[in-house]
Amino acid sequence: MTIYLNGEFLPAGEARVSVMDRGFLFGDGVYEVIPVYSRRPFRLAEHLRRLQASLDGIRLPNPHAAPEWAALIERMIEFGATDDQSIYLQVTRGPTPVRNHAFPKTATPTVFMMGEPLATPTDEQRREGVAAVSAADIRWMRCDLKTTSLLANCLLRQRAIDAGCVETVLFRDGILTEGAASNVFAVKNGVLLAPMKDHRMLPGITYDVVLELAAAHGLPCEVRDVRVDEVREASELWLTSSTREVLPIVRLDGEPVGAGVPGPVCADMHRWYQEFKRTVMRGDDG
Ligand code: PDD
Repeated sequence: MTIYLNGEFLPAGEARVSVMDRGFLFGDGVYEVIPVYSRRPFRLAEHLRRLQASLDGIRLPNPHAAPEWAALIERMIEFGATDDQSIYLQVTRGPTPVRNHAFPKTATPTVFMMGEPLATPTDEQRREGVAAVSAADIRWMRCDLKTTSLLANCLLRQRAIDAGCVETVLFRDGILTEGAASNVFAVKNGVLLAPMKDHRMLPGITYDVVLELAAAHGLPCEVRDVRVDEVREASELWLTSSTREVLPIVRLDGEPVGAGVPGPVCADMHRWYQEFKRTVMRGDDG
């Protein structure tokens, strides 16, 4: 596999990062995951804007202007074996002479990128829906930043896996935040309920597309705090992310969500999402 590291495209096995890299020592870095369809990145400008916001949030200058990122990503996509890919990129604060929590005086960021075949949900998962567990959101108060410090997310996701489920739905003070690595929507009385984009959740690129599609198709929508009881009584629950797109959750903590089968609103949204993707990939929009 060919990866990108600090100005070079090279085989993954030949890539070297210092053990003194602050990404390794402190998880001091940010990242993006960009889906690629037919070798074209989806919502690239939005992903690069979020990258900038994450970098600003951790006070790390962006090592590349947007057109440079676009060119690097385009080259990375060319190395991929498949037409549909996910591009992972991360920027850390780079190597430091001594281990010290405070930033080094001068930092040379480490820039890493790789492409992987896009692993979207299986047909069965789409047809049948998936199961999730819930947990208290134990993360920090800057969940809006896409940082590589993901230990809490990893522990939370593993809870789902240990329970034979695919995702952990998180609540903070009785309010729905998101999933361990996805955003979460509920449908109640035909209204789409979406948590607000603030410090409690990652502003998902897929989340934005879902809200745009809801508006375009006249689906009533409320963006606000969604209480745990509303989630428990929802007729539908979905998770969204760049790799999972829009996926129905049909069981939560062993209890059926609504009728316990994928709901009609999710089916509509999934269809709109696929149509929208096709439009974007044709170059008519996006
Ligand atoms: N994660 N919330 C969290 C905590 C996430 O990690 C992700 C995505 C999302 C959805 O964001 P988007 O729609 O922009 O993919 C929400 C990626 C896929 C990951 O970490 O692999």
